[in-house]
Amino acid sequence: MAKLKTTFFCQNCGTQSATWVGKCKNCGEWNTYVEEVIQTPSAANKQTHKYHSQAVRIQEIDSTQNLQRIDSGIEEVNRILGGGIVPGSIVLLGGEPGIGKSTLLLQLALSLPTAMTVLYVSGEESELQLKMRADRINKTNKNCFIINETNTQNIFQHIDNIQPQLLIIDSIQTLQTNTIESSAGSISQIRETTSELQRFAKTTSIPVFLIGHITKDGSLAGPKVLEHIVDVVLQFEGDRNYGYRIVRAIKNRFGSVAELAIFEMQQTGLREVSNPSEILISQHNEDVNGIGIAATIEGLRPFLIETQALVTPAVYGNPQRSSTGFDLRRLGMLLAVLEKKCGLKVNTKDVYLNITGGIHVDDPAADLAVVAAIMSSLFDITIDYKTCFAGEVGLSGEIRPVSRVEQRINEAKKLGFSNIFISSNNSKDIAISGINIVRVSKVANLLKKLFQL
Ligand code: TYD
Ligand code: MG
Repeated sequence: MAKLKTTFFCQNCGTQSATWVGKCKNCGEWNTYVEEVIQTPSAANKQTHKYHSQAVRIQEIDSTQNLQRIDSGIEEVNRILGGGIVPGSIVLLGGEPGIGKSTLLLQLALSLPTAMTVLYVSGEESELQLKMRADRINKTNKNCFIINETNTQNIFQHIDNIQPQLLIIDSIQTLQTNTIESSAGSISQIRETTSELQRFAKTTSIPVFLIGHITKDGSLAGPKVLEHIVDVVLQFEGDRNYGYRIVRAIKNRFGSVAELAIFEMQQTGLREVSNPSEILISQHNEDVNGIGIAATIEGLRPFLIETQALVTPAVYGNPQRSSTGFDLRRLGMLLAVLEKKCGLKVNTKDVYLNITGGIHVDDPAADLAVVAAIMSSLFDITIDYKTCFAGEVGLSGEIRPVSRVEQRINEAKKLGFSNIFISSNNSKDIAISGINIVRVSKVANLLKKLFQL
């Protein structure tokens, strides 16, 4: 019997090594090398090049027909892909288990406007399970085919029979190719099967969607290997306990990575959320303190998010700080600024911060709203519910200007806010009427202007 050929792969970055090593030379991670069986494909197995490559002049390439993007039937998906599905592109959709990856792609397969032939390959769920899901989503596409298959050679055979115009793979970690002997989900299998699919997509111009699982630390399994091969990497995020889901583009060869799509998981599948601000602000007209509304920009869209703070006297020696949806270290920094530059005694207080809707904000413009919410809770004074904030707080207590402030002000105005606090360093000539723009330069001034303290 021929000797099995094995090699070691870093499970984090895909680097290959002939021997086991403790620390990966490429990514620096420890203990990530795993031995995998590979078999150098015999000459018969090797892909014979069916499509001979030929050099052509760039101006001779006819781009008009190929760049016709395909309408996916889901507005938010079109948006995040940069205007629709590009023929021949490979899109990788990553996310934690149970977040809604299979639901989104099945929904896409069923809502394509032109009844395109779609092949949905599931290595995880049976045909019946997928049918039950489709019934829940309550959409049909008579040209949507489902197979439960994991072997790529078999999948390509099905493709020859069905001739799909769109291929969906759920998930890349379940696929296996005959040319390599290691088990499904290993780095070498993921790399090889993805390359096979990539060759398929590029030579036939059929777009392929891949679902990818996420490892414990939140990155895509086999990450670097896949990210190089595919054209678009989308990441599904959201708190499973809340209904809202965000899809972010991490890499997009055909569009902007600043885009994001927002969905709400419902009993009948994912609903598109085209006006995110309305859902992220709880409607309250009474006096509630500790609430500050931030005018943030996520992706290319402005939206208003509610930040809630609770400041109480610390019962234990060490004051507690806890935050959901906001960076804890940044909260610590803001509290240090309040202590030192405003003279507020927050060092002896427990501080809890929460961003509503299970959303995580990264936009530094939310700082000012967080600071205002903390002040409001500390002094037990309510902030007028028609007031919002957009400013970054610096270490010396200064309020720094934020990008695209006009867009934020317009969004606030559209939602009926009557005051917005911004940095006094933001451009002076903002021509927006109908909303009162309050400029503040320092955190200490905010205290005066907001609470007259
Ligand atoms: P799923 O799409 O299978 O997640 P993934 O493929 O990312 O692992 O399932 C997402 C979750 O959503 C699952 O817990 C069930 C729930 N769900 C709904 O709430 N409504 C629905 O219409 C569907 C189909 C699923
Ligand atoms: Mg799934």
